[in-house]
Amino acid sequence: MKNFAGKICFVTGGASGAGLGQAKLFSKSGMKVAIADVRQDALDNAVKEIVAFSGCAESDVLALKVDLTNREEYTAAADKVEEVFGGPPHLLIQTAGVNSFGPVEASTFDDFDWVVGVCFDHVVNGLLIFVPRMIKAYANKEEFHVATTASMGGFMAGSGTGPYSAAKAGVINLMYSYAETLVKYGAGATVLCPGNINSNIGNAEKFRPAHLKNTGYHVSEGTMKHLSSVHATGIDPVELAEILKEAIENERIICLPDHNPENWKNQLRGLNETIENYTLTKAERDAIAAERMKAMMEMMAKMKEEGHEAPPMMGWEVPEGAEPFGQARKDLDWIKR
Ligand code: NAI
Repeated sequence: MKNFAGKICFVTGGASGAGLGQAKLFSKSGMKVAIADVRQDALDNAVKEIVAFSGCAESDVLALKVDLTNREEYTAAADKVEEVFGGPPHLLIQTAGVNSFGPVEASTFDDFDWVVGVCFDHVVNGLLIFVPRMIKAYANKEEFHVATTASMGGFMAGSGTGPYSAAKAGVINLMYSYAETLVKYGAGATVLCPGNINSNIGNAEKFRPAHLKNTGYHVSEGTMKHLSSVHATGIDPVELAEILKEAIENERIICLPDHNPENWKNQLRGLNETIENYTLTKAERDAIAAERMKAMMEMMAKMKEEGHEAPPMMGWEVPEGAEPFGQARKDLDWIKR
């Protein structure tokens, strides 16, 4: 998709962070933009920010308060866009997401239902609700495109990222199917895989729905403060949206979070190696891990010898009152810490 002006864009999670960056940029590119989000106060603020950023008329921004995991609400939002803007979106960007981290063995059904519900199920909802409408309205007549925001976390997993990584891996894989199939309708699909974004996701736990509150993770003001301080070092949302725009224009299927995707390809190769290592025996994996540890220790010793300071383990300041995130709830005494 190369021409955006005068067309319709629908951004989920458009009231904050990456989604707001995308809404701003595609509004500035001349699109009418609908933003769907669960938080009304954030939506109200986002409309003002989009208008100020792009200089568009307020009537070219449609704010929709929707819980996107709810299919009836999502369908009603899709109907509303057609009613107000005169058709389904030419560009659907599904970016809403939440995160919460802790040992996978401590996870509860609520942890999975919330994280997978927002990060994966809402994407399925949007694809099933919108793609047939988009095909009927635009196939081989007008450009259209489907994008989602997954994560580098979808290519890998750690012991503390189970539900999140699984959901993002699902999104990445699903987008391959859409990329393959949309070609015959003259359309494309892109999955954006950011590393770290300067957004509000570190506070997502504050908005966890009441019926999904039973978490197995230790969550407090202090853990949210800590997580937020990590995200504060991430890429600017509008810059990330510019990278996505280039990927959409050039029909990249995976969009890496850098103006030069080459900068991330080594990381992808490393991840591929990690996956290959999962096919090895435990003894073989242990030998590789020991080899890597030895190489790292030698490098650190050499740096010390040459009078260099060892690189800091973390690239961010831990704020006062911060607590480690990614831990199990304190009363789960069977968890090995
Ligand atoms: P954010 O918290 O600033 O924005 C996410 C938005 O999604 C919020 O406005 C929130 O209200 C909305 N949302 C959550 N649940 C919803 C629901 N049920 N219905 C409707 N809206 C809902 O976070 P951020 O970081 O901008 O996240 C955007 C996407 O980027 C997410 O999919 C996230 O997983 C992904 N991502 C974020 C990274 C980061 O470092 N912040 C890194 C990689 C991927």
